[in-house]
Amino acid sequence: MSRILFRNANIYTPVDPGRPLAGAAQDRLAVYADGALLSENGRIVAVGPAERVLAGLKSAVVDREIDCGGACMVPGFVDPHTHMCFARRRESEFVQRIAGTPYLEILARGGGILSSVRAVRESSEADLTARTLRRARTALSLGTTMLEIKSGYGLDTDTELKMLRVIRAVDEIVPQDVTATFLGAHAVPEAFRDRPEAYTDLIVEEMLPAVARQGIAAACDVFCEQGVFSLDQSRRILKAARSHGLAVKLHADEVHDLGGAGLAADLGAVSADHLLAAGDDNLARMAAATVVATLLPATAYSLKKPFARARDMLARGLAVALATDCNPGSSFTESMPFVIGLAVLGMDLSPAEALVGATLNAAYALGMADRVGSLEAGKQTDLLLLDGQSPAILAYHSGVSPVTAVVKRGRKVAGDAIG
Ligand code: NIG
Ligand code: FE
Repeated sequence: MSRILFRNANIYTPVDPGRPLAGAAQDRLAVYADGALLSENGRIVAVGPAERVLAGLKSAVVDREIDCGGACMVPGFVDPHTHMCFARRRESEFVQRIAGTPYLEILARGGGILSSVRAVRESSEADLTARTLRRARTALSLGTTMLEIKSGYGLDTDTELKMLRVIRAVDEIVPQDVTATFLGAHAVPEAFRDRPEAYTDLIVEEMLPAVARQGIAAACDVFCEQGVFSLDQSRRILKAARSHGLAVKLHADEVHDLGGAGLAADLGAVSADHLLAAGDDNLARMAAATVVATLLPATAYSLKKPFARARDMLARGLAVALATDCNPGSSFTESMPFVIGLAVLGMDLSPAEALVGATLNAAYALGMADRVGSLEAGKQTDLLLLDGQSPAILAYHSGVSPVTAVVKRGRKVAGDAIG
């Protein structure tokens, strides 16, 4: 048995009420100045003011005591939306985009997602694993202790399964917990050009059963967008996924308001993601159905679009989560500190709301809140030390990472703040 006592920290954590923190409640954190946290075998057994934690210890032996030097301690970040399993970057396409070519036009010309599909089909499993590992490790150094990675650059059964195997391999190698999401409906592949219905049949009749049989994805996602998958096709795919026992989520109303947010509410999705163009009625339906609104401000930033209306969403009682969307096209970043900074300065979230979005609500968006997302007894000892007085440092110290130590299940896995 290994018992570790973290002392002398300014602890900031969401308090998990058993559901996502929504509306005004998203602005609430527990704060323990001079806080302590006791971890046993990678799980938190006590957290709070040092006095209380130490009194509870009585004469029990502690194997290791870590003095946090007055640093700010927060839960490890949870990144609930990434496409970081890809083979090649798309830097020249980025140059076209910043010169004015719209993202969906590049896709319609056979570039964008489809160019990543060609690259992933050509790459070996070992090469794809090595590249994905590198990105997951970058995320780790920036404080991400749990993340989701999607398939979606295969778009045929074999390559989608290859991607999901790579994601599972990455999960086994990196210190983080990695969950896999099947995104066969990321684009209509070239072989099915102008036949989206036939490709939808393939997803429903062949891909989903194969993915479910192998048990290598926890969730299914769809890019519900004009020129990609219609609302009806998205519904059909997600209903089939649900019948196979997968959680469902979707890229909803990223560019056009197709009603993806309303579909997420109808289907009881864990989250609806992007929502840049989502309408008010559908947002209200999401709130009523407790669907987490996963916002990706680094994508809006990179696409040079207005940010999602996070304040309106909170006013409507939604729970907001934050994610990087890390992908080679619309948002190439592994950095949750960057995303938190954009959320605070671009979407007007308070530092507390942004921290809840990057931890507890993100954990709910992955169905993992029983294990991670807050520093509370019973959850994993996944925590960060920050070089600052409060979580505001994440937005205040722009463009760098204030994360000085990353602890996963009680073990230091990145940073140099603790020995
Ligand atoms: O979330 N919108 C669709 N998928 C990604 C982009 C993927 C890519 O461009 O490779 C997104 O923005
Ligand atoms: Fe995405």
